[in-house]
Amino acid sequence: MRRTGSPLTHEVLVEEARFILKTLQRRDLFGADVKLTEAERVLDSSISLSFADYCSFLNKFGYLRIEPNAGLVEVTEGGARIIEVLDDAEFNARLSRHFARELSGAPTPPPPPPGRPLPRPEMASVTEGTVPRVAHSRGPVERVVDDVLDRRYRRGAMVGQGTVGTVFRGQHVSLGRDMAIKEVRSVFQFASYLRRDEIVRRLRQTVETHARLVHPNIVQILDQNSEREYPYFVMEFAVGGNLRERLSAEKEGRLPLSQAIRVLTQICYALDYAHGQDVLHVGLKPENVLFDGQGNVKLADFGFARITDRAEPGSQTPVLVGGNAVGYMAPERLQPVGGDETALTPAADIYALGLLFYEMITGKLPGRRSPLPSQARKDVPSAFDDVFDRMTRDELEERYKSVSEVLDGIYKAFPGKEVFSKGTILMWAEDPSPLPAPPAPAEAPPVEVEEVVEELPEPELVAEEALEEEAVHPEMRGRSLVARSDDSEEKTGEIAVPEDLRPTKGKRKGPPPPPR
Ligand SMILES: Nc1ncnc2c1ncn2[C@@H]1O[C@H](COP(=O)(O)OP(=O)(O)OP(=O)(O)O)[C@@H](O)[C@H]1O
Ligand SMILES: [Mg+2]
Repeated sequence: MRRTGSPLTHEVLVEEARFILKTLQRRDLFGADVKLTEAERVLDSSISLSFADYCSFLNKFGYLRIEPNAGLVEVTEGGARIIEVLDDAEFNARLSRHFARELSGAPTPPPPPPGRPLPRPEMASVTEGTVPRVAHSRGPVERVVDDVLDRRYRRGAMVGQGTVGTVFRGQHVSLGRDMAIKEVRSVFQFASYLRRDEIVRRLRQTVETHARLVHPNIVQILDQNSEREYPYFVMEFAVGGNLRERLSAEKEGRLPLSQAIRVLTQICYALDYAHGQDVLHVGLKPENVLFDGQGNVKLADFGFARITDRAEPGSQTPVLVGGNAVGYMAPERLQPVGGDETALTPAADIYALGLLFYEMITGKLPGRRSPLPSQARKDVPSAFDDVFDRMTRDELEERYKSVSEVLDGIYKAFPGKEVFSKGTILMWAEDPSPLPAPPAPAEAPPVEVEEVVEELPEPELVAEEALEEEAVHPEMRGRSLVARSDDSEEKTGEIAVPEDLRPTKGKRKGPPPPPR
């Protein structure tokens, strides 16, 4: 089935069919046995018709051999000959006959029903490489530039930037469904100590691991393409904004207690589920706590904070974190015991969650001399103080080991009407505190990518070695100083980083090699 309204010529068909055959022979991409699903994942987005359409043609005429039971595909001798011969008359004629309907410009699938905010794209007008201007995360998808990724996802306005990449509002072209697209750019500059292919490998692994998490309080990942110069992945769009925005919208920067408790328990259940799948978050912070249209939690970015970690244990163990993530990190995350940070446990997430909850109810991150939750806020039962304390102990042996234990504490500390009973996730049917509608966006010309790259914020880069040096900000030296600032202003930790550890700005790495 055709996927765009752009003209499909015989030359395009031949070129794409040969491109498929050629790519399927690449062992560096697929190994010895080419899995159909893997081949489709790699190729489908780069061709005008679906991979399945081409496969059925190539299989029918013996250019490919498909083993349906094993799910494998193999280029036959006949197929290999097509790669060698530039103009095989029989092949060309078969192709033209097989795809006569598509070549004659037969009607494309019906356009989306009226009322969709965006029309289907005309591929001729695609302008990849331009970045739309920043827009409020909850506004309607705007047509800023006609910018379509892989003929499937229309990229709208930018929502924000983090360590790994840039998040855009997006829309699935044929479904018309709003989505979020995270395009991975910044990490290639910030983590310049890692090879590009290593970053891409880790990214793909992280996205795939995250994509396996299916839970009502976890952002669902829907697609990815890691073969592009700037890989991207697609996830559900959290229309309710993030916790940082929600806190800022509240008087005194704190949530009503019953809301904070529900957000806390929803995060607990999301983490408990993920930990049960052996997945840690390791990057909990308000920007990664998103909300859906009903005001329920959608936790984002599981494992992303570790993409930039150095693989080898030892003294040089940089922790590259975006913006204010440092403030929420467990001591063992910043100063891995024996340099082995692969040994992180669920307790690292529990620690971060303890700090996050304190911030939710007081508007500030806790410091060494901060009052206990019940002292900071009179409506918090004193029974919760002990739970908070056991969530945020520096010593691993003294901290809760599992989210299930935290939940036990929560159910004991808070009244039943707030939490119901263990094993039940309470969800809102209607958002109790929706964020105010964003202002109408003003028109502005698209921004060139290069300019955006230059303007990317620098994240902090913390290395063990750096922590030992005098150059390090005293607030950040030693675990007890890490996340225990009394002043929430300080939570981002101004970390002085030695020049040679600083990420290089504006350096662009080349794209991965095209299929040969
Ligand atoms: N699926 C999504 N739906 C809606 N907004 C999102 C989504 N994912 C991220 N955002 C928002 O986009 C912005 C940028 O997110 P991004 O994850 O790139 O950076 P970050 O969370 O600030 O830092 P980090 O890179 O450390 O995760 C944040 O404001 C975040 O809340
Ligand atoms: Mg994030």
